[in-house]
Amino acid sequence: MTTLRYLGHSSFLVETGGKKLLFDPFISGNPLAAGIDIDQIDADYILLTHGHGDHVADAESIAIRTKATIISSYEVVTWYENKGLTGHPMNIGGKWKFDFGTVKYVHAVHSSMLPDGSYGGPAGGFVIWNESVCFYHAGDTALTLDMKLLPAICPALNFAILPVGDNFTMGYQDAALAADYIQCDTIIGCHFDTFGYIKADHEAAETEFRNAGKKLILPTVDQQIQL
Ligand code: NI
Ligand code: MN
Repeated sequence: MTTLRYLGHSSFLVETGGKKLLFDPFISGNPLAAGIDIDQIDADYILLTHGHGDHVADAESIAIRTKATIISSYEVVTWYENKGLTGHPMNIGGKWKFDFGTVKYVHAVHSSMLPDGSYGGPAGGFVIWNESVCFYHAGDTALTLDMKLLPAICPALNFAILPVGDNFTMGYQDAALAADYIQCDTIIGCHFDTFGYIKADHEAAETEFRNAGKKLILPTVDQQIQL
């Protein structure tokens, strides 16, 4: 059983392998996440899919307070290391065995720029596995045929976090196809409703997945999910 706490937008706190993994913290600037106190978030690792502000805004302050290690692209990690923070740089296609499990940094079709305009390297997603779970956080991405590689290069996925809000990423129709490509039946949607461009039709999205024989969970902010 893996516990996830949805912190809004694409941010999740996942406890696995005895560690707390914080993904893409964008909380203090997200009106939908106003009820979440970022000073109460504990993290051992902060995983950043790419450098856009709606994925990294709170990474620096949380990393300073918690001393969490930042895992991301070489470019994003170097940017944080230059601020005195600790990181583990990766690049697309590489994997590394951490003390909570293995992380594979995989391709995303998206752009990446840090808040000050610095180049963020390629945007990515993470596949994470250990003895108890294997899951995928796709970050911001279009639907891409590369997703068909995941079943060949990673253990079977128990669940996946996919963007569904459209405009900046794939929408729910493409995400349902992505679920097929990655051979995963349990999908948690992210990157929806936070701003006007990505307001999602929840019922239509859930129906699309149901018709594809998949389950779509569209979490509410601060929802705890057990999978
Ligand atoms: Ni982005
Ligand atoms: Mn984004």
